[in-house]
Amino acid sequence: MTQLSSSPAKIELCSVTHLYVTSTRAFMAIKGIDLRVEEGEFICLVGPSGCGKTTILSLIAGLERPTAGKVLIENQEVVGTSPRVGYMLQQDYLFNWRSIEENIFLGLDIQGIRNQETEEYALHLLEEMELADFRKSYPHQLSGGMRQRVALVRTLSCQPEILLLDEPFSALDYQTKLKLEDLIVATLRRHKKTAILVTHDLSEAIAMGDRLFILARNPGRINREIIIPERIREPLPFHARNQEGFTDLFNQVWKEMEGLTDASRGD
Ligand SMILES: Nc1ncnc2c1ncn2[C@@H]1O[C@H](COP(=O)(O)OP(=O)(O)OP(=O)(O)O)[C@@H](O)[C@H]1O
Ligand SMILES: [Mg+2]
Repeated sequence: MTQLSSSPAKIELCSVTHLYVTSTRAFMAIKGIDLRVEEGEFICLVGPSGCGKTTILSLIAGLERPTAGKVLIENQEVVGTSPRVGYMLQQDYLFNWRSIEENIFLGLDIQGIRNQETEEYALHLLEEMELADFRKSYPHQLSGGMRQRVALVRTLSCQPEILLLDEPFSALDYQTKLKLEDLIVATLRRHKKTAILVTHDLSEAIAMGDRLFILARNPGRINREIIIPERIREPLPFHARNQEGFTDLFNQVWKEMEGLTDASRGD
């Protein structure tokens, strides 16, 4: 991707430190994180449990304010939630008493932007996700993968510029997951979204991302940045896995991760 270094980053974290303070203790979840994400990039965050991945997403989403440092979206400091950022959590949070179409219109209702045009856009996304026939169904009638797709449609319906995905595929079977990976990457590319994906699946991170950040914990920090070679980055995730160099890269990331878990064991 050719970018002028002077243009504002889509997302920027500048020396971000975050402490969680409870009545009994203060815990430093992340320390001194610097991160720059360009418009249209697909970034993956990997790292051992507790290294602060969800914390980073929550700060970008404006659900938490950093204890120190700044989070910027196009040079504007994040001070709260914004319709520019869509956050899709691991659990799909569909409402069982609402039909699929009422679920996908929910974000539009909340943001007060529900009208014929936005409804049509949401239904168009539903069609792209091959779920058009299910608009009058209810969540309990759908499989896990279908529900995840509905949740994604609901998030995309509000047309966020930035999409934050926290382990969205972890509850799915392998085949569904691979199909959904391709569908998500294709959809995000088509709609030119900037995305950050958190995952524990290293092969998924390498297959989906343009860049990968490996985090270490105690305190959470960036340990390494890996730029995915073009050969692996260009095809959709399913085919990316068959590209030359994929296995070598996987082994490199695996080793790196193993070092981290060993180093932070016993804390
Ligand atoms: N609300 C909170 N109050 C206190 N501590 C918290 C809170 N949320 C997270 N933490 C702590 O901050 C650290 C980072 O948590 P975070 O959820 O960001 O990690 P993670 O990398 O997403 O982990 P996982 O891979 O298990 O989801 C953890 O040690 C966690 O216990
Ligand atoms: Mg997490």
